[in-house]
Amino acid sequence: MSDSTQAKVPIAVLISGRGSNMVSLVEAVKAGSLAADVRVVLSNKPTAAGLEWAAERGVPTAILSHKDFASREEFDTALANELEGRGVRYVALAGFMRVLTPAFLGRFSGRVINIHPALLPSFPGMNVQQKAIDYGVRHSGCTVHFVDEGVDTGAIIAQAVVPILDDDTADSLAARILEQEHRIYPLALDAVLSGRVRMEGRRVLGTGIE
Ligand code: GRF
Repeated sequence: MSDSTQAKVPIAVLISGRGSNMVSLVEAVKAGSLAADVRVVLSNKPTAAGLEWAAERGVPTAILSHKDFASREEFDTALANELEGRGVRYVALAGFMRVLTPAFLGRFSGRVINIHPALLPSFPGMNVQQKAIDYGVRHSGCTVHFVDEGVDTGAIIAQAVVPILDDDTADSLAARILEQEHRIYPLALDAVLSGRVRMEGRRVLGTGIE
């Protein structure tokens, strides 16, 4: 956990919708358990509910619609410009529904983190709660990982396991996984921002997260 003397790292939180993980990060900052300064909550969708939540709490917000750009690379370049202009060092993806290209990742190399609602490397991509149920795995969960150029392939920082119950639906499983997402994302991000982690190949060591 961070102490109050620790320097706050400027971050952006990127969303596309509800933003409940963004809420958990902002609340951890306010509680003093995440040593970050949220420079902006940015959405690629103007209607994202999380934007209003953030604005009501005095967190700067921005909208950058991918529809205003001719290509992924142009959007990603504009996104990197926007975040660099705000002094952002680390980027937390929180339900941000865009795959980022090297045009963005090259500018924030090793400094982009995501949360995914499955135990990677199983079930990357979309609709993963239903896929886990349909496959018949007995446990799923969530994964906080660094973002690389693949889809959900970056080095794993933290995971939490959630059992799959006989009567689970995608929605009931998603709700129980989300509780764990809200627990481990602030912890994992704090471990990275505070410099407690070290890399050994793909392994991210030293987080202290169970
Ligand atoms: C979460 O399940 C997250 O793991 C996934 O997208 C969902 C976003 O939910 N990447 P929210 O917008 O944070 O509520």
